Amino acid sequence: MPSTPWPRPVLAANWKMNLGPAEARQFMAAYLAQPPARHAGSMIIFPPAVSLVAARDAAAARPGIQFGAQNIYWEDKGAFTGEISAPLARAAGATCVLVGHSERRHVFGETDEETGRKCEAAARTGLTPVLCVGETLGQREAGETETVVLRQLRAGLARLTREQVAGALLAYEPVWAIGTGRTATPADASTTHAALRVAVGVILGDPHHGVPILYGGSVNPGNAAALLAAPGVDGLLVGGASLDPASWAAIAASGERPD
Ligand code: 13P
Repeated sequence: MPSTPWPRPVLAANWKMNLGPAEARQFMAAYLAQPPARHAGSMIIFPPAVSLVAARDAAAARPGIQFGAQNIYWEDKGAFTGEISAPLARAAGATCVLVGHSERRHVFGETDEETGRKCEAAARTGLTPVLCVGETLGQREAGETETVVLRQLRAGLARLTREQVAGALLAYEPVWAIGTGRTATPADASTTHAALRVAVGVILGDPHHGVPILYGGSVNPGNAAALLAAPGVDGLLVGGASLDPASWAAIAASGERPD
């Protein structure tokens, strides 16, 4: 896991269950044909596992782009049909892995305990875990946002050493904002990011730690700049709007900073 800080903003594309190998190659060719964003920070693309190698190979001309897996199982190998392990993801070119994405939690029933095991497997394999946390609409309306995300955070990081926590990334993705067109306001994002940042500081014994916290949920080229400008938002984790090369390039451009 990189021990150096991630250049900000960290722009991450989660393709979810979209874009097979040929489409991944087409996407990368179209994206790379556009002028690179200046000072664009870090970029991570999370293709479906079957497209990891194709996407990575197609981006060989832009070595700064990192690739990640959308999920792993915590065992390294064996009779676990349908799963991929951290070493397999690494062998396919992943440097990072999403853990505890809301669709894993809410569609596939992944538990807090499982996210902890997955972060542990990622870290011991040298993959950077990108731990995702977020509350449902009901939890938000019940005033439970902070309780829920901090519980998810502590459980996800519970099996990591301090050094491994310091090398991880976090993503705050309110469930009610994912794929709904309803985005958290920059102020909503800042409030929750601040609570997460303090909690990580307590775990690390260092309030000035550099663990990046990304926001995700209905990010698009029209709202990316305002979200990136919100205090405490170190980057974005983008679903639907990352599937189109022009839209992804526009989001990357919103991470540009003046010279
Ligand atoms: P959308 O950007 O499609 O709302 O998805 C967000 C997300 O889940 C990224 O991981």
